[in-house]
Amino acid sequence: MRSALRCVLALFVLAPILATPLSAQAKPASKLAATPPMGWNSWNWFAGKVTDKDIRQAADLIASSGMRDAGYTYVNIDDTWEGQRDANGVLHTNDKFPDMKALADYVHSKGLKLGIYSSPGVKTCAGYAGSFGHEQQDADLYASWGIDYVKYDLCSFRDYMNAQAPGDTLKQYQIMQAAYEKMHLAILKTGRPMVYSLCQYGWDQVWQWGPNVGANSWRTTGDINPSFARISTIGREQAGLAKYAAPGHWNDPDMLEVGNGKLTPDENRTHMGMWAMLAAPLLAGNNLGELTPEVTSILTNREVLAINQDPLGKQASRIFAEGQVEIWARPLANGDVALAVFNFGDSENFLRGISLHLAQAGAANGWKARDVWAAKNLGPIQDDYKFTLQKHASLLLRLSH
Ligand code: GLA
Repeated sequence: MRSALRCVLALFVLAPILATPLSAQAKPASKLAATPPMGWNSWNWFAGKVTDKDIRQAADLIASSGMRDAGYTYVNIDDTWEGQRDANGVLHTNDKFPDMKALADYVHSKGLKLGIYSSPGVKTCAGYAGSFGHEQQDADLYASWGIDYVKYDLCSFRDYMNAQAPGDTLKQYQIMQAAYEKMHLAILKTGRPMVYSLCQYGWDQVWQWGPNVGANSWRTTGDINPSFARISTIGREQAGLAKYAAPGHWNDPDMLEVGNGKLTPDENRTHMGMWAMLAAPLLAGNNLGELTPEVTSILTNREVLAINQDPLGKQASRIFAEGQVEIWARPLANGDVALAVFNFGDSENFLRGISLHLAQAGAANGWKARDVWAAKNLGPIQDDYKFTLQKHASLLLRLSH
């Protein structure tokens, strides 16, 4: 009898839970960025010139080019959309963005998501209105528009930190962390899932505290630009950060420059392959209006994207470095290993008998190799595999046994 009563009671307690679909039981934020976010951001190409029309065209082109089907989902407006606050403190857009809600509806109608940008400071990096003192109001505004992604860029908040705690770096960093957490809590309070992307250039070892303030990603470096020197410097600087990345929160070595500037095909592939190995957010930053078949094929290479989006979420570590040659490796969910050899050097036809370091990569002699960029099975591979790397080129292998 008692046990029957317990059963009935248990049913009472469990019924609402059992009736709720699993997806609704999970906290909205928990599924965000389970793999590194993918999309496009306006800054690297348009910078301060971006308009509503550009964002609509970007959405059209992401859909029509095949990028959307490859996984590029977020269309992110960076700095310079902001107008003035009204008497109630409500922020308005500037003339370049006449109707943000309509824009969000348009982007959503294309099966894509819309991202926006702000700063914890009074001003953004480009001198537009930041969220200082209006965090909840702004988060509510984003939610009312249907925003799906927020990039929060330190910018002028540095002045505030300095003024609050002159010369006291520790205190300044506490103030910075609190500001980032404040916007996280404001976003949570809206009830709308929004990917939360921290941009403070890697200060104060953000990878150590980013997850605690609700970050889905955090910039680990200063700004990228479309030069191979900058791209490779940033990529190489990521050594040691692998242990801080995991599903839901990622190291962000900044947005992609693939297709920008004068990058050669080898440089574009090395950039893309390295960001894939690093489990980095993949936010293309190119001129979508001038997508060449070559750039499209690099950005949408399914095997490269599968490495970046691998559900295990383990970022690559550097396992070998000598001069301008480095080998990085990461384990993948199905037991495979991704291994990349980079030639950052300027020598043409670079050729050496370097060992692949298969054991250090978590593989072994005799594992089967697939040359990912060449889309070619190489068969069983050994440490002494001979290959040539042109200047700035790389070899990307998927190893299985
Ligand atoms: C900073 C950021 C960039 C970009 C600009 C916009 O420099 O690091 O990614 O958002 O601000 O002003």
